[in-house]
Amino acid sequence: MAASKKISAPVEKKINTWSGRFSEPVSQLVQRYTASVSFDRRLAEYDIQGSLAHARMLAATDIIGADDLAAIQLGLDQIREEIRSGEFVWLLELEDVHLNIEKRLTALIGDAGKRLHTARSRNDQVATDIRLYLRASIDDIVSLIHAMQQALLDLAEKHTDTVMPGFTHLQVAQPVVFGHHLMAYFEMLKRDVERLSDCRRRVNRLPLGAAALAGTSYPIDRDRVAQELGFDGVCENSLDAVSDRDFAIEFCAAAALIMTHLSRLSEELILWMNPSFGFIDLADRFCTGSSIMPQKKNPDVPELVRGKTGRVNGHLVALLTLMKAQPLAYNKDNQEDKEPLFDTVDTLIDTLRIYADMLTGVRVNREAMYKAAMRGYATATDLADYLTKKGLPFREAHETVAQAVRFADDSGRDLSALTLPELQQFSPLIANDIFAVLTLEGSVSSRNHIGGTAPAQVSAAIARARKCLS
Ligand code: ARG
Repeated sequence: MAASKKISAPVEKKINTWSGRFSEPVSQLVQRYTASVSFDRRLAEYDIQGSLAHARMLAATDIIGADDLAAIQLGLDQIREEIRSGEFVWLLELEDVHLNIEKRLTALIGDAGKRLHTARSRNDQVATDIRLYLRASIDDIVSLIHAMQQALLDLAEKHTDTVMPGFTHLQVAQPVVFGHHLMAYFEMLKRDVERLSDCRRRVNRLPLGAAALAGTSYPIDRDRVAQELGFDGVCENSLDAVSDRDFAIEFCAAAALIMTHLSRLSEELILWMNPSFGFIDLADRFCTGSSIMPQKKNPDVPELVRGKTGRVNGHLVALLTLMKAQPLAYNKDNQEDKEPLFDTVDTLIDTLRIYADMLTGVRVNREAMYKAAMRGYATATDLADYLTKKGLPFREAHETVAQAVRFADDSGRDLSALTLPELQQFSPLIANDIFAVLTLEGSVSSRNHIGGTAPAQVSAAIARARKCLS
């Protein structure tokens, strides 16, 4: 809006929101206790967007006049600018974002401002605001997950033949390639995106029109508002529309799972960076030192991701608990939905942004990974499979190999370092072709089916993943 057209009105300091019905004002403590403006002001843009759509519908259905609509639009545009520039004065006395904006609108444009709330309640208004906010947040989060998936793919691509020990029970189990290990996280994140997209469909419904709880006697056009705001449809029961926050709970559940996945990866990065593993190093910008031990380089960022997962899980439990005993319809309890939800979104966004960057700075020590895979008889299963393919029942093969491992262990060598006659003591089925099977490379290459760790399969998985991201 051009500065010359700016409407001027002083900020009213004396406020009496509930007027005639009340004989005494609330105490300052109660005012602070019940107010949400300190945190719900971040919904302001969505509140204005919702109000504009509502006002246009009111005018289109002749519930308010065209002149009122024009004034409301001018006033709300100006308020949006005031908020963006930081000059808007937020008042605790006005409780929440909705009343702050409405009061300012009335100060700027007079009676037309008072007409905006026709056929509406803060109950359907706030439910609409949160849904608009959450829809935008989901879209941001999905893009950030995609960026992290790209980073995983780029790293995995460089390591389709980097052998490392695969673990079960954190004990060396079978060799895998590092790219395969990373692609496991790609799959987890893929499901996370699916969950968010599914949740988005239920977020994207319009509560406005439900008014306080029962609907409204005005001839409103809900579909029009839904369409203007980009919703897929309207909430079909007014009581449900103003009271349930299941869409936010679902989102928090999806967020908790994302953080859980990132926490698992963090735990691995921390282990791998420990000198006893020495598999990777993280770029210095994600680590800190110790104030007492000069040699230390601590993986603070992954540790914090692991820690912050607890807080996001906590928000999910907070929202479930918030909802569990609420009778229909709206209750003030619902005001408590915002901080957990906002903090979940903020934590997730920061974590994902930092993670994509951190993955690009991972330095891999191939030799350390290879050496670790050589310890722990990672190809024992390959020897058992070899014997089984030559006709020995698998359970017998399992026992035969257990004895060979014991022998190798006693002589301090890997299975592949035993001589042919040594191996043949355990089974006459063993021939010279066994050595191709007992090497780490032979072992990973033999798992050559979709989902297996053979380098060719990992490359194919990366290619499929790139296609699904583009
Ligand atoms: N600040 C309130 C919230 O976040 C807005 C709705 C208040 N409605 C009411 N009837 N007190 O839920």
